[in-house]
Amino acid sequence: MAVTIKSKREIALMREAGRILAEVHAKLGKAIEPGMSTLDIDRLGEELIRGYGCVPNFLNYNGYPASICVSINDEVVHGIPSAKRILQEGDIVSLDAGLIYEGYHSDAARTYPVGQISREAANLIKATRQSFFEGIRYALSGNYLYNISNAIDSYCRQFGYGVVRDLVGHGIGTSLHEEPQIPNFRQWRRGVRLKPGMTLAIEPMVNMGGYKVDWLEDGWTVVTRDGSLSAHYENTVLITEGKPEILTLLPGKA
Ligand code: MF3
Ligand code: CO
Repeated sequence: MAVTIKSKREIALMREAGRILAEVHAKLGKAIEPGMSTLDIDRLGEELIRGYGCVPNFLNYNGYPASICVSINDEVVHGIPSAKRILQEGDIVSLDAGLIYEGYHSDAARTYPVGQISREAANLIKATRQSFFEGIRYALSGNYLYNISNAIDSYCRQFGYGVVRDLVGHGIGTSLHEEPQIPNFRQWRRGVRLKPGMTLAIEPMVNMGGYKVDWLEDGWTVVTRDGSLSAHYENTVLITEGKPEILTLLPGKA
């Protein structure tokens, strides 16, 4: 399947899917506190998503057993919620969530501090978020996809961080994962040409140490090989005639 171009009608639905997910994330972010289990976060997230009349798209995706991916510290992505995993003061926690509204998917991730965290951890979270914004400066009609990848990578490298290579961003629409794949690290080719109506989930995953990752025995949880901290930041983005529109951010918020 080629990269899909969404119609006006589809864009309106993607916008609503994105706006609702932004609200879900805002509420989840406010709920984060030491003592909470990762299952509590999943329960709250699923309840919020269903409360908007939407469906959690991660639930049962390739057998994934929850609605929200909750990944702590050296866990990069796809942590499985559990009543036994308790957030501790000083942790960083990545929440990846997605939903379906009227047949259209949205997908976004944020990393939050749990109580007081180290300066180094806070810097990692901030740089990971900023790398997304550096990337989408190039998310313009007529540019090439890997202009985005290269910008994300260059920004992260200056801090000595490792940008994860084994997982990538993706097109999104009537499926959670559509073409194209969107690497967050430097590419030699230029990738597809960006056109208005493309909707892309751009999602840098950035490690404080090396870029290498491993999969745990549960078949899902991705961890840094060197045990260093990892952060994740993702939004669903619409390519327009002008500046990109970030569908999963509330106006005036991050
Ligand atoms: N945001 C992730 C992605 O885009 C989460 C999906 S993994 C799932 O791939 F299995 F939990 F759905
Ligand atoms: Co995604």
